[in-house]
Amino acid sequence: MNSQAITQPNAQMLLDIKDLRIWYRTTRGNAQAVDGVDLVINRNEIFGLAGESGCGKTTLARGVLGMTKLPGYVESGEAIYYHPVSDSSVVGRDLLTLPAREMRQMRWRHIAYVPQGAMNVLSPVLRIEKQILDAIYEHSDLSKEEARARMFECMEMVGLDRTVARMYPHELSGGMKQRVTIAAAISLKPGLIIADEPTTALDVNVQQVILQELKDIAASLGVTLIYVTHDMAVHAEMADRLGIMYSGLIVEVASVVEAFKEPLHPYSQGLIASIPMIGGDRSRMVGIPGNAPSPLAWPSGCRFHPRCPKVMEICRDKVPPMLEVAPGRFVACHLYPTPMSGAAPASEELN
Ligand SMILES: Nc1ncnc2c1ncn2[C@@H]1O[C@H](COP(=O)(O)OP(=O)(O)OP(=O)(O)O)[C@@H](O)[C@H]1O
Ligand SMILES: [Mg+2]
Repeated sequence: MNSQAITQPNAQMLLDIKDLRIWYRTTRGNAQAVDGVDLVINRNEIFGLAGESGCGKTTLARGVLGMTKLPGYVESGEAIYYHPVSDSSVVGRDLLTLPAREMRQMRWRHIAYVPQGAMNVLSPVLRIEKQILDAIYEHSDLSKEEARARMFECMEMVGLDRTVARMYPHELSGGMKQRVTIAAAISLKPGLIIADEPTTALDVNVQQVILQELKDIAASLGVTLIYVTHDMAVHAEMADRLGIMYSGLIVEVASVVEAFKEPLHPYSQGLIASIPMIGGDRSRMVGIPGNAPSPLAWPSGCRFHPRCPKVMEICRDKVPPMLEVAPGRFVACHLYPTPMSGAAPASEELN
């Protein structure tokens, strides 16, 4: 069996992604969509995964869940998920090498996924109750009565009336369908939920309510949430920590407060400067110049260098390593070759 009882490097650690590469085979070569991601997710946090469209967020999220489908494949790397088996021991398992049957059990029971465009994943021909209950039966030992009770409990948590259980997806609004997918995701009380742009297609008011519900659920169930979106304003509201992704790599990790107050990577600075503020002066909004590069041919050195306003000679040739420049602050940028004043030594890489 591909697991072992181990001592975690850090008791707070839930998921440890190491040098993960997920590529797509195409007729024009390999699209290196996720290409060297190192990332640690802690217990009970809301971790925001940010970055422009196409930077690899969904590929990363699905990859960690063992859901990479051809022409995508895991080129290399690990994603170790730690879950307790008793008060004193945890089991760490590499999600990328789990046999399919074990991964199916792991998914839902330990890790649930709310996919991008989740509203469209509901089967149009099945009642909502059937869709939620089937997932509960398949992944738990709950009796029929217990499963129904759990379903109603979860529907209530996401603000859905019980009568919705008997309905078909076409009878529901977009926001209601999205709530159903969230109710299904939490129905097995997983340790980790990965939600990929769950509210992007909804109007701002519904989005606001669902975000708050997700936040409350994460807190009340003690579940860790990885929230994926390109929308920095949503991250500002949701996340405890933020990971900024660019061209298949994480380029900065920081608490959400630090990331917004003083973003370190020039790409993060550009992302944050381009957030539209309600009632703000839009003429002062700054976008990031240039286009995101293609995963078929990443730029040499720092992948952001062709667009970076602070580019230096070294950036064209040398890949900047991810360094801990201050406690809990990680950045991969040649502007920060040493720790900031008062910070821990920068020798430690992020993992
Ligand atoms: N099946 C595929 N074949 C080839 N390339 C792919 C495939 N799926 C995704 N890609 C490429 O991988 C890169 C990352 O895509 P991904 O969907 O992970 O981005 P994303 O950050 O989730 O974007 P968005 O914010 O638009 O959802 C993109 O350049 C995309 O073109
Ligand atoms: Mg995506």
